[in-house]
Amino acid sequence: MRILITGATGLIGQQLVDQLGSSHQLVAWVRDIDRARTSLGQGVELFSQPGELDQRVQHADAIVNLAGAPIAGQRWTSRYKRQLRDSRIDTTTRIARCCAASKTPLLISASAVGIYGDQADRLLDESAPTGDDFLAELCRDWERAASQAEPHTRVVLLRTGVVLAREGGALQKMLPAFRRGLGGPLGSGRQYMPWIHIADMVAAISFAIENTSLSGPLNCVAPNPCTSAEFAAELGKQLRRSARLRVFSPLLKLAVGELSAALLSSQRAIPAALAGQGFRFRYPQLTDALTALLST
Ligand SMILES: NC(=O)c1ccc[n+]([C@@H]2O[C@H](COP(=O)([O-])OP(=O)(O)OC[C@H]3O[C@@H](n4cnc5c(N)ncnc54)[C@H](OP(=O)(O)O)[C@@H]3O)[C@@H](O)[C@H]2O)c1
Repeated sequence: MRILITGATGLIGQQLVDQLGSSHQLVAWVRDIDRARTSLGQGVELFSQPGELDQRVQHADAIVNLAGAPIAGQRWTSRYKRQLRDSRIDTTTRIARCCAASKTPLLISASAVGIYGDQADRLLDESAPTGDDFLAELCRDWERAASQAEPHTRVVLLRTGVVLAREGGALQKMLPAFRRGLGGPLGSGRQYMPWIHIADMVAAISFAIENTSLSGPLNCVAPNPCTSAEFAAELGKQLRRSARLRVFSPLLKLAVGELSAALLSSQRAIPAALAGQGFRFRYPQLTDALTALLST
């Protein structure tokens, strides 16, 4: 297959390229070709000109659209919120319209469990109602943009939880504090924090490429979501450090502003669609996922 990827240089993208590179022809739309060449190597065809997009989509069998400014990259000023939206919705709209015009068979597009807003301990499968905060609205618009590729294109929407990886993302941000015994739950610690091991995330995308009966939203989360307190306790246990230093909500709000609402909101999401299609998680339990990531 010829697969076009956006956001290929990111945390998920790089692992996906490693996984798909041996069996598929990969093309990546990147912002900086030299930087992308360093992280992706020679095996991926790169382009950066937006003007080339239509033709590249026309020649692709599938698109995996992962690009977007980092959600926890900086404080959510109104300028940064605009960047979070524009970097996702403008790109996705262009890609979806190109897919629709050229009847591209498949568009897999990123989204997030943030679409559910804050739903305490209610179990959330893909049919659950969505939320109404900034992130929920952003995800809804992002998914709506991707869905413009239908009906001729099969559209899969990756409602991803916190991706646990050695190379970056949330775990890498947490580790320095936890390693010093300064880690702990956020806020009350009772909010659910759905997570997924990077290997399962990449496997879920491969599964969606191959499994033509999959379409629509896909909760990309391990089947055993945990609360922020449970996560902190497990991470502390594995690092043999105390992890009881709670970050109180007002302090978190002071430190990161509106982003704190996203960090304190609760999504007890379960991978109903993936499970329904027979996807097998390599790391269904947090203990095993963290052991694998923290070893060596
Ligand atoms: N990792 C997670 O825990 C997680 C959880 C839920 C949802 N997601 C979503 O899944 C997608 C992939 O996640 P990831 O962790 O791999 O993301 P990432 O590491 O932050 O990488 C995203 C990629 O998007 C591109 N990008 C960054 N800023 C941009 C901007 N201002 N405008 C346009 N493109 C920009 C970059 O690619 P180039 O520099 O090559 O252009 C970057 O490599 C993201 O959209 C993310 O929101 C991730």
